[in-house]
Amino acid sequence: MKTYCPPPDKSITIRALLLGAVAEGSSRIENPLDSCDTRAALSCLEALGVRHCRDGSALLIEGRGLKGLKKPSGPLDAGESAALARMLAGLLAGQAFPSVITGRGTLLARPMKPTADALKKIGARIEAKGGRLPFIIKPAKLKGGKVSGVASAQVKSALLLAGLYSGKPVEIKEKLPTRDHTERLLALTGARLSRSGAFLKMGAGPLTARPVTVPGDISSAAPFLAAALLAGESLKVTGCGLNPLRLGFVRALRSMGAKIELKPLRDFPEPCGEIEISPSALKAIKVKPAEIPAMIDEVPLLALLAGGARGVSVIGGIESLKSKESDRVAGTLALLASLGVKASYKKGALAVTGAKKFTAAGPIRTFNDHRLAMAAGAASAACPGLKIDEPACVDKSYPGFWDDLRAVFRR
Ligand code: S3P
Repeated sequence: MKTYCPPPDKSITIRALLLGAVAEGSSRIENPLDSCDTRAALSCLEALGVRHCRDGSALLIEGRGLKGLKKPSGPLDAGESAALARMLAGLLAGQAFPSVITGRGTLLARPMKPTADALKKIGARIEAKGGRLPFIIKPAKLKGGKVSGVASAQVKSALLLAGLYSGKPVEIKEKLPTRDHTERLLALTGARLSRSGAFLKMGAGPLTARPVTVPGDISSAAPFLAAALLAGESLKVTGCGLNPLRLGFVRALRSMGAKIELKPLRDFPEPCGEIEISPSALKAIKVKPAEIPAMIDEVPLLALLAGGARGVSVIGGIESLKSKESDRVAGTLALLASLGVKASYKKGALAVTGAKKFTAAGPIRTFNDHRLAMAAGAASAACPGLKIDEPACVDKSYPGFWDDLRAVFRR
């Protein structure tokens, strides 16, 4: 059976960098991701006085403690990473110095109001004019308090990081459970984090630097799982993150009839192990909105597989995909149309009618969005020779994607 090891997890790497920066002591981050987004995180931290160096396969971050960050001499550039811009805003909201967080390209058009509003509720003095970057942050004494209805892992993480600096605890109630990487890393570093009824409760206090190993990114592995199914091949994925709050795609594939086995090998601080997939005939699926957070970045891939499945699939609750790196709903519809698959979007739900065969009509547009480019890459397993626009946009999270795809599927 073919084997494949995905690159390190982007979400976990960025969080480990941010927490390492304000921990006491030196953090050893084993197997960190090196991509455009993680480089942007490192350059923001450098501007805040954080030193780092490579040590073999690890990255060492010299923590400056909660109060040791330096006032940056200019705006901090989050590149095209929304996760970085939002989580950094949380980390900087309670500092004694002002800061500005900006970004580039598609990030400048992405919504920042939910993050600013959530942080204001706990006493932050933060503005995002017109709901867009830059974040203008003034020094503030955070007062803490309850924030309900949080609908994004990034906003939740911004609140948790701000909670490190808050006079009273920050209590967070999520709309639906989202990825808990920040919680796991905070617990690892000794943060005062607990549950109080339906609320996650974060108290101020120092963090102790601890070594962490970043598992492979399930969102980067997902296009390979999809490609294996489309090509009718078996594949073993090794060293992959298996956090249950990221496994929505795997659960959806099982419901579609895919033969897919998980082999957890370690559980702390993040579950990690192997995934084995075997050739399977797929049937249509109905996905409920509550299932979306655990597969938020895999929806284009699921839609693609629905396009090759028997019957009509409905994927509900995907409104937030309209404000990812691109309007991913429009991009997914365009991808399916280019492959000759009938699909429509209404009231937050995507309906896809499975086609017998994909018929490539012209080049696939990626809208400069890494997840759409990787979904198109997966489609090429069923349509060899498919032309894909702007393939380099995968560098955001997975610079080696095209080489790995060619190596695994020899196309
Ligand atoms: C992420 C959370 C998700 C996801 C993004 C990374 C994170 O976004 O789409 O790629 O690292 O927390 P939302 O929290 O906005 O849904």
